[in-house]
Amino acid sequence: MEQLFVTESTEETQEIARKIALKLEQGTTICLYGSLAAGKTTFTQGLAATLGIKRLVSPTFLIMREYPVTGHPVIRTFYHLDLYRLNSVEEIKAFDVEEIWSDPSNLLVIEWPEKFLEILPQDRMDIHFKATAENQREIKIRD
Ligand SMILES: Nc1ncnc2c1ncn2[C@@H]1O[C@H](COP(=O)(O)OP(=O)(O)OP(=O)(O)O)[C@@H](O)[C@H]1O
Ligand SMILES: [Mg+2]
Repeated sequence: MEQLFVTESTEETQEIARKIALKLEQGTTICLYGSLAAGKTTFTQGLAATLGIKRLVSPTFLIMREYPVTGHPVIRTFYHLDLYRLNSVEEIKAFDVEEIWSDPSNLLVIEWPEKFLEILPQDRMDIHFKATAENQREIKIRD
């Protein structure tokens, strides 16, 4: 199924993330595509806040950050992975991503998945972000 949204503020983008988080029955892999400042981390903050995570910061320099989740029946851990600085499949596998995405108690959110599509799980949600004006973003969700 594909859905298209247009948001006019960070809050509206996070509200879409909130609706998605509330629908999650278990952990999955959510891939966020789009150029710099398209809204991927902003969206991730909306997902995280809905799952009770107080402060999610961009993982760019650390590549991956991990947060405990307490308020969900199945999801126990939220992983936020930013592949912007990685260049090889070996580098990403060193983060034990296969173990993470095969466990339904994990929610894995990936920014910059473009370079690694061939190793990502088939069973995932793809979300594309596009800046269409200074404060406007087009968000296309496919699951
Ligand atoms: N409708 C909107 N939705 C989301 N962000 C918006 C919107 N309008 C303006 N912005 C601004 O766009 C920027 C989005 O930054 P964000 O860090 O979320 O992007 P990103 O896609 O994660 O970029 P990067 O690839 O650098 O990680 C923020 O400064 C935010 O305030
Ligand atoms: Mg980001």
